[in-house]
Amino acid sequence: MKLPALALLVALSAQAQQPLEPTGRWLHQPVGSAPTPPMGWSSWNAFRVDITEQKVLDSARVIVDSGLAQAGYRSINVDDGWWLKRRTSDGRLQVRTGLFPSAAKGKDTSLRPFTDKIHAMGLKAGLYTDIGRNACSQAYDADSPNLPEGTHAEREVGLMGFVEQDVKLFFGDWNFDYLKVDGCGLSSYGPDRAHVASGQYREYKPTIVEGNINQSDVEGTKQLYVGLKQALHDVRPRGDYVLSVCLWGTVNVRSWGQDAGTMWRTSRDIANSFSQMVHNFDSVATREFYAGPGRWNDPDMLEIGNGEFDGNHLLEARTHMGLWAIAAAPLMIGTDLSKVSPAVIDILKAPEVVAINQDPAGHQGVLAYADSDRQILVKTLADGRKAVLLFNRTDAPAKFTLTAEHLKMDATAPVALRNAWTRADAGAFTGQREFELKPREALLFTATGKHLLPRGYFVSERPGSVYVARDGIRALEQDPIGYRALASWSTTDNGGTRPAYAGWGGPRADSTPYDQALSVQRQTFRHGIGALADSRLQVQVAPGAQRFVARAGVDDSTRGKTAAVSFEVWGDGRRLAATAPMKFNQAARELSADLRGVRLIELIARQHGADTAGPVVVTWGEARIE
Ligand code: GLA
Repeated sequence: MKLPALALLVALSAQAQQPLEPTGRWLHQPVGSAPTPPMGWSSWNAFRVDITEQKVLDSARVIVDSGLAQAGYRSINVDDGWWLKRRTSDGRLQVRTGLFPSAAKGKDTSLRPFTDKIHAMGLKAGLYTDIGRNACSQAYDADSPNLPEGTHAEREVGLMGFVEQDVKLFFGDWNFDYLKVDGCGLSSYGPDRAHVASGQYREYKPTIVEGNINQSDVEGTKQLYVGLKQALHDVRPRGDYVLSVCLWGTVNVRSWGQDAGTMWRTSRDIANSFSQMVHNFDSVATREFYAGPGRWNDPDMLEIGNGEFDGNHLLEARTHMGLWAIAAAPLMIGTDLSKVSPAVIDILKAPEVVAINQDPAGHQGVLAYADSDRQILVKTLADGRKAVLLFNRTDAPAKFTLTAEHLKMDATAPVALRNAWTRADAGAFTGQREFELKPREALLFTATGKHLLPRGYFVSERPGSVYVARDGIRALEQDPIGYRALASWSTTDNGGTRPAYAGWGGPRADSTPYDQALSVQRQTFRHGIGALADSRLQVQVAPGAQRFVARAGVDDSTRGKTAAVSFEVWGDGRRLAATAPMKFNQAARELSADLRGVRLIELIARQHGADTAGPVVVTWGEARIE
C-alpha cells in the first residue's frame, strides 16, 4: 500500500515542479454558471446598509415593470446589512426582522419567504457575506443602527469557521442563487483599528494588506475561497449559482479569481464620480486574457443613476455603460430604481449595448489604442462583427482617428459602422475615419468589414478562448497602469494614490506584459501576444481550423537579455512545433503547426537558465489560427 502512495507523491511533486508541461485539456473549470456576464441589481450603491425588504422588493418590481428584467437584469442582490447575529447555541445566522419582516415567521428567522417572492417574480436572489469573521459594514459603517448585535461571537456573522453551515443555509434552506463574498474580515480587524482597540470586535491579524502585495497572504486567501467553492459545489452540484469574489483587486486575485469564483472584483469600491469610474474601468482594461465565458473580471457595480451619472448627466451615464459593455463586465444596477428617470432606464436597457456586453463568445474588449486621454477598445463578437468603443477620458473635446487596422480589418475594403446607442447605420469608411468626441464621451459602434487575414483570426482578438495556465511572473508587482483617482472616502493628507493591484507582467493581447509595442530584433508586430518566459497559455481552437502560425522571439523590451527561450506549440498534448533556444536580438522565427483535428493548443515559452537582470519578455508575433 505504501508504494503507490509514494509514487503518487513523487508524480504530484514532479507535476508541481514542471508547471510548463502541457496537460492537453482545458484547465479552467467554471465556478457556478454564468456563460455571459451576470446582470442584476444590488442594494449597496443605492442604499448602503440602510436597506429594507420593502426597498429591495420595490426595486425588483421596477426591474420587472420597466422591462429591465426582460433586458437581462434578473439577479436581485441583498448586500451588507441584512443580519442581526449568529445564534451561538447552534451557529445559525439570524436575520434582522425589523428590516426584513417576512423573515420573522418561525423561531429561526428565514429569508426563504423573501427569496420565494423574488422567484415568484421570475427573478433570482442574491445575498452577501464575508470570508472572515466580520463584515465590511462593521468596520466602515460604525454609526449604522443596523449592524449585528450581541457578544463578540454573536456579531461574528462572516463565514470563517461556518462555511459549510452558512452555505447550506443560503443555498439550501433559503434558496439563494448568488453569493457575494467580501474580504474585510481578513483586512480590517487589526489591533490598530478603533473598532478593535475599543474591544468591540475580536482582533484578526490582517492577511490582506491593501496596496501591499508582499505583506498579503496570497495563497492562504485563495485557499479560503477555493474551500468555499467546494462547499458550494457540494450543496449545488448542478452549478446553478454565481459566486462573486469581492477582494478589491488585492492578493493577486486578478490572476486567480477565475479559479475561485464566477466573477471577481479587480479594484476598490466604485463611487458616483467620473474619475473613480475610470479608475475601476482601468483595473480590468488590460486583463483580457483572464476573462471569458463563465469567468468575468468585475470592475464593480454600476453607478448609473447616481451622482455624476444621474439623469442630469446622461452622457456620462452612457459612457459608464459603454465601458462596462465593451469590457464584458457584470452589469449590476446600483441605483434606487423607484427614483430614476425613464432616460436612465433606457440607458440601462439599450438593447444593442446590452447585446455587446452579453455576446455569447464572451471575449473582453482589447485595447487597440491608448494614451492618457483617449482609448480605443475592440471586442470580437460571436458572429465575427466587432464592437468598437472610442473613449475620451478628458474634460475637453478630443479628436480620434479610427483605422481599419484597429479593427483587424482590411484597409482597402469598406468598413460599415452601426451606432449601438441610436441603433442606426453610421456610414462606411475605407482605411480610416475621423471623429471628434465631446468631453467624457464614449462612442460605441458595431463594425462589419473584411478581415485583415485571408483566412482565420489572430489569437489576440479572441482573448476569451485563452487560459493563462502559467504567467511566468516570479515576483508579484503592482500594476502601474491605470487612472489614480482619489477615493471618495480619502483625502490628500497622505503620500498619494499608488498602484495597488498585482498582476503586472501577465500576458497581454497586442502588447508586451509591460505595455510596450511587440518587437523582435526591431521588427514590430501590431498583432500578437506578449508574455513572460516560463509561461504556458492554453488556447481553444475554433472548429475547422487548419494551422497555427506565429513569429516568435525574445522581445526587444526584455529586461533579461542573456537567457535563451525556446518556443513550443502543443496540440491536445502532442508537440506540434518548436524552436531552438533563442536570445535577445535574434530575429523572430516562424512556428507553424498543423491543427487539423486539434481542439486545444498550448503555447509554451521555456526559459533556459536564470537571468539575473530580470524577467525575459517574449513575443508571439502575429499569432494566428487559420
Ligand atoms: C465592501 C464591498 C462593497 C460593499 C461593502 C458592504 O466595501 O467592496 O461592494 O459590499 O463592502 O459593506
